[in-house]
Amino acid sequence: MAATPFISIQRPSNLDGYNRNLSYAEQPTNIPKTFLDAMEVREEVFVREQSVPLHNEFDSDDARAVHWVIYASINTMTEAQKTDDKGNILQRQKSVTTTQPIGTIRLVPFPHPPHPEPGSSYAADALETNPDADPSDPPFIVDRATTFHDGKEPYVKLGRIAVLKEFRRSGISKILVNAAMAWARENPAFFNPSIATMGMDKMGASGTDEIPIWKGLVCVHAQVQVIKVWGKWGFELDEGMGTWFEEGIEHVGMFQRMDISLTAKV
Ligand SMILES: CC(C)(COP(=O)(O)OP(=O)(O)OC[C@H]1O[C@@H](n2cnc3c(N)ncnc32)[C@H](O)[C@@H]1OP(=O)(O)O)[C@@H](O)C(=O)NCCC(=O)NCCS
Repeated sequence: MAATPFISIQRPSNLDGYNRNLSYAEQPTNIPKTFLDAMEVREEVFVREQSVPLHNEFDSDDARAVHWVIYASINTMTEAQKTDDKGNILQRQKSVTTTQPIGTIRLVPFPHPPHPEPGSSYAADALETNPDADPSDPPFIVDRATTFHDGKEPYVKLGRIAVLKEFRRSGISKILVNAAMAWARENPAFFNPSIATMGMDKMGASGTDEIPIWKGLVCVHAQVQVIKVWGKWGFELDEGMGTWFEEGIEHVGMFQRMDISLTAKV
């Protein structure tokens, strides 16, 4: 079995009709294939392995996020080579090549719901946890200040990173994180709001100098058991955010400031 990884990207897409009570394999035909592949990995890792309820795995951030999926091309022998007594080949070995999604990550644009309260416990990690929020058009929120976030600066959030168990510890998640961060560096204005479509009020801005613009701040809500892994990619623990439980799993906040000064057109 030989595996050659390659990556696909799924930009924000219309996921209307996605039924969160059903598996990725039972979704309507309008849902993009790359997103279904991401959900295939997330269901295996978060739902089956970590016991997150299927209903909570898909959330309202999925439609507005950018997703990356890494695949392995797996060559499996179906019939062995056959030879006669003298070593002459009677039939060559036969094999089939299949493509399998093995890892995924997503990048969620601002705005976000407020930072979780230390010691709190909640299920769905998305704007819908705020009953006043309209998930299709989220308001801009002034948050509490933490160690690395002043409560106002727009930040993007990396999350839902998952690699199938049998492919772990061979650098797959490193490829995913690098792909997402390289894309963010090359597309720093992608998530910046347009005054024309949103209006100043909704952005919480009273003048053009207050329009929320991404300046390179990246957050993760990390499971405590992978703090070291995110640390390897340059994320620092935000002590001020404290710890909380998502889906019964203890989480912390971590931040990284990317240097986008050479690419940002601000
Ligand atoms: C966390 C996870 C995505 C890492 O994927 P992976 O492909 O095995 O990671 P990599 O092989 O790219 O490893 C990256 C680095 O982290 C280290 N690492 C990986 N898993 C680790 C772990 N559980 N504990 C400590 N270090 C770890 C690797 O040694 C590597 O370090 P190196 O670059 O110095 O060699 C994977 O274990 C996973 O899917 N876990 C379940 C889902 C999950 O917990 N997601 C995190 C949500 S916040």
